[in-house]
Amino acid sequence: MAASDQVRALRWDGAALQVLDQRLLPAEERWLIARDATETARVIHDMAVRGAPAIGLAGAYGLVMAARALADADADAWTAGLAAAVALLNAARPTAVNLAAALHHLERIARQGVPGDWRALEQAAQALWDEDLAANRRMGELGSDCLPPGTRVLTHCNTGSLATAGLGTALGVVRTAWTGQRLAAVYATESRPWLQGARLTSWELNRDGIPVNLIVDSAAAFFMARGAIDWVIVGADRITANGDVANKIGTYALAVAARHHGLRFMVVAPSTTVDLAMACGADIPIEFRGPEEILRVSGRSATEPLLAAPNPVFDVTPAGLIDVLVTEKGVLERPDAAGLAALMARAC
Ligand code: MRU
Repeated sequence: MAASDQVRALRWDGAALQVLDQRLLPAEERWLIARDATETARVIHDMAVRGAPAIGLAGAYGLVMAARALADADADAWTAGLAAAVALLNAARPTAVNLAAALHHLERIARQGVPGDWRALEQAAQALWDEDLAANRRMGELGSDCLPPGTRVLTHCNTGSLATAGLGTALGVVRTAWTGQRLAAVYATESRPWLQGARLTSWELNRDGIPVNLIVDSAAAFFMARGAIDWVIVGADRITANGDVANKIGTYALAVAARHHGLRFMVVAPSTTVDLAMACGADIPIEFRGPEEILRVSGRSATEPLLAAPNPVFDVTPAGLIDVLVTEKGVLERPDAAGLAALMARAC
């Protein structure tokens, strides 16, 4: 593991999935254990593990555990049991396509193989892990190459090792660009209400010795107007065929503000986040979470009781606001349907 990339969100110990509980960071580093598909669905839904590629990997290991429990089943029970586990795991969070993609990939392998051969799924889950890490390393280089020395970047949410197999997507670009001495400043938004930026991104960057300016979400346009930021760099939960991008709530506002101020806007995501089967962003299922995430801060009531506090946790940035899309397959300027289809058809 590289010196600048020491954090891991998950560990597969051969029998169970160990999950670093991201709800407790940075105050406490506590590992939970998910022993079957049901417990895995719960840690994904409750956001002990979060971030599109990381929940895809967690889901894959949840399915491995379901397959192990079906090892002695006959062919019909094996197929039906796996389908039920896929449905259970896939329902844990709706927006990131990586979860569905990982589950369906493993289910396909199970269908092509010998009923009961759960080890084949374990190998496939490990391969997904290795591919995600390799994709992040490649994207780190490709994205970093887009940034001239002296660049000041702003990133949103957490897209680091905690959200992936390691290194990260947008944060992987930040890490690589920092190591390559291209960055003059790094800004991270708090990412209300769950505080992925304040609690997780700051923690990861601090551990790497990368100085970070933490700002409240609503200060982003202020710093843009002052000329303090050159590039906004974010991850993605789903990229549709026309290049629209679902990502953490607030991403769309950052893209609008970046375009207004003449800044560049980069999305960094592995090809597993691209959903060519979905035409456009309006079709993406957007997760709404409970109002308590907004109404309570640090476990305490932050406001008078309200009738409603609608809490969409993702939004959609139209392709037209994106200057650069970085995947492990290459860099696409001004993504659109034709460019994205051609990029996805490339071998790595
Ligand atoms: O609700 P979360 O924390 O799972 O949302 C995470 C994000 O929106 C990330 O930006 C995205 O998943 C990319 S992570 C590499």
